Amino acid sequence: MKKKCLLLVLVSTSALSVYYGADFVSRVYLTKNEHSETVTQRYNDLVNSTYSTKPSNGKTFAKMTTRPPNVTALWNRFTQIINENIKKLYFKSWDNVITPYVTKYMIDERDICNSSSPPFLLVFVLSLPANTNERQTIRTTWGNFASQNTSFVNQSARLVFMLGRMTDGITLDKLVQKESTEHKDIVQFDFFESRYNLTRKMMHGLRWVKTYCNSVKYILKVDDDTFINVARLSNYLLTDSNINNKTIHGYVYRNGGPVLREGKYAVTKDELPSFQYPPYVSGTSYILPYDAIPDMLDLAERLPYCPVDDAFMTGVMRAILDLKLKHSVDFTHMSETKIDPCAFHSKLAVTNININCMNTLWNLTAPARAINCTQYRELGNNACSIF
Ligand SMILES: *[C@@H]1O[C@H](CO)[C@@H](O)[C@H](O)[C@H]1NC(C)=O
Ligand SMILES: *[C@@H]1O[C@H](CO)[C@@H](O)[C@H](O)[C@H]1NC(C)=O
Ligand SMILES: *[C@@H]1O[C@H](CO)[C@@H](O)[C@H](O)[C@H]1NC(C)=O
Ligand SMILES: *[C@@H]1O[C@H](CO)[C@@H](O)[C@H](O)[C@H]1NC(C)=O
Ligand SMILES: *[C@@H]1O[C@H](CO)[C@@H](O)[C@H](O)[C@H]1NC(C)=O
Ligand SMILES: *[C@@H]1O[C@H](CO)[C@@H](O)[C@H](O)[C@H]1NC(C)=O
Ligand SMILES: *[C@@H]1O[C@H](CO)[C@@H](O)[C@H](O)[C@H]1NC(C)=O
Ligand SMILES: *[C@@H]1O[C@H](CO)[C@@H](O)[C@H](O)[C@H]1NC(C)=O
Ligand SMILES: *[C@@H]1O[C@H](CO)[C@@H](O)[C@H](O)[C@H]1NC(C)=O
Repeated sequence: MKKKCLLLVLVSTSALSVYYGADFVSRVYLTKNEHSETVTQRYNDLVNSTYSTKPSNGKTFAKMTTRPPNVTALWNRFTQIINENIKKLYFKSWDNVITPYVTKYMIDERDICNSSSPPFLLVFVLSLPANTNERQTIRTTWGNFASQNTSFVNQSARLVFMLGRMTDGITLDKLVQKESTEHKDIVQFDFFESRYNLTRKMMHGLRWVKTYCNSVKYILKVDDDTFINVARLSNYLLTDSNINNKTIHGYVYRNGGPVLREGKYAVTKDELPSFQYPPYVSGTSYILPYDAIPDMLDLAERLPYCPVDDAFMTGVMRAILDLKLKHSVDFTHMSETKIDPCAFHSKLAVTNININCMNTLWNLTAPARAINCTQYRELGNNACSIF
């Protein structure tokens, strides 16, 4: 039985699911493009070289029955190959600036981080000009700790919203200007909002951080439909021994996944020659150490523009710069639609929630509030689709 399975591992990609999971197989092996055969071959070679001394003679299989594949080791090496592949594919472009930062600020809000003590954490929220209500809800709920000069982990934090412009936005620009005057927490760039421009927005946002907030230690990147459990996050930052300036923390997609050439997340070959993303974190919420930012800014100018911001920045660029990833399931991502309300207090972030839900979750998780599971269920059922 065991012997048969091991034989299949060597000769049939579909049977790999026995060992490596259907997800892995579909992402890596069923990607139909010019690179896939090469990489499948490289992976097979890796299997061969790892688990047999003399391939192609019958004894190989007999040997392997006594030594089943170490999936973790194989994964690590495969990831390494993908990372090296990414570096090679890009190497030529590193000499020249091909994607310069050219966009002007509509609003630069340069004083956000000025204070006698530099902020420990910058909460960096991507938001659309029209999402006034979302921003206001964040300000009055979980973002409150940062917008006021109160302490966070006994260190200060700041809140900033990153906005672009809308094509039909004259009136909106005025509203944003007014909101900015009132709250002083908006940075707006002079380019149009679109999914395609997300990486542009992120990189310009990080450039703002380098220019105006370069003493900060960590950036928490979030979208404006994401709730952050402040109490839990401060605990995470305080107690996680892996918190350092070389690691990005978030919900890690270990497979990376294929680079898509069609659809919502389409990327052309000129934009990204690789067929596979290295491991990356879900873009809805993650922690980026400030020390990674100057190198990322420099590198991004030397690479072609690639619109899938999370996979590009925390996958491709991260791999080139040799930054690490730290996975935590508590950076819950979009696909987790149902969570146990009573387990919620252990989550760091929940994405894809509306304003009501955000208020509810804030009432339930605000620091210093006792967790009451009965209350979670009562409130959650009414306001939160996630429960
Ligand atoms: C392992 O190596 C042998 C000899 O090169 C080759 O015939 C066989 O197809 C290889 N197996 C895989 C899965 O690549
Ligand atoms: C599998 O490989 C990993 C990573 O190299 C290693 O830490 C682990 O000890 C190995 N497990 C076994 C059972 O050899
Ligand atoms: C924030 O609070 C600290 C300590 O109370 C104070 O020194 C600093 O000036 C304040 N900064 C701002 C911008 O209010
Ligand atoms: C913050 O500082 C206060 C006073 O120094 C201390 O009592 C408290 O334990 C500190 N909190 C944390 C989370 O470190
Ligand atoms: C993205 O921003 C650029 C630079 O300002 C602009 O020219 C372009 O129209 C925007 N693209 C989309 C698809 O909105
Ligand atoms: C705040 O700091 C920025 C640079 O980080 C500087 O340009 C700006 O003038 C400062 N603002 C004040 C009010 O000191
Ligand atoms: C990270 O922190 C270490 C120790 O504090 C420091 O030596 C190093 O220069 C920092 N920056 C980077 C990019 O590693
Ligand atoms: C949250 O708590 C505040 C103050 O107790 C209350 O006014 C508000 O209605 C609550 N909101 C939700 C959605 O539970
Ligand atoms: C928890 O909430 C329920 C419903 O609001 C309330 O009846 C109960 O007394 C609360 N329990 C505690 C320990 O506060």
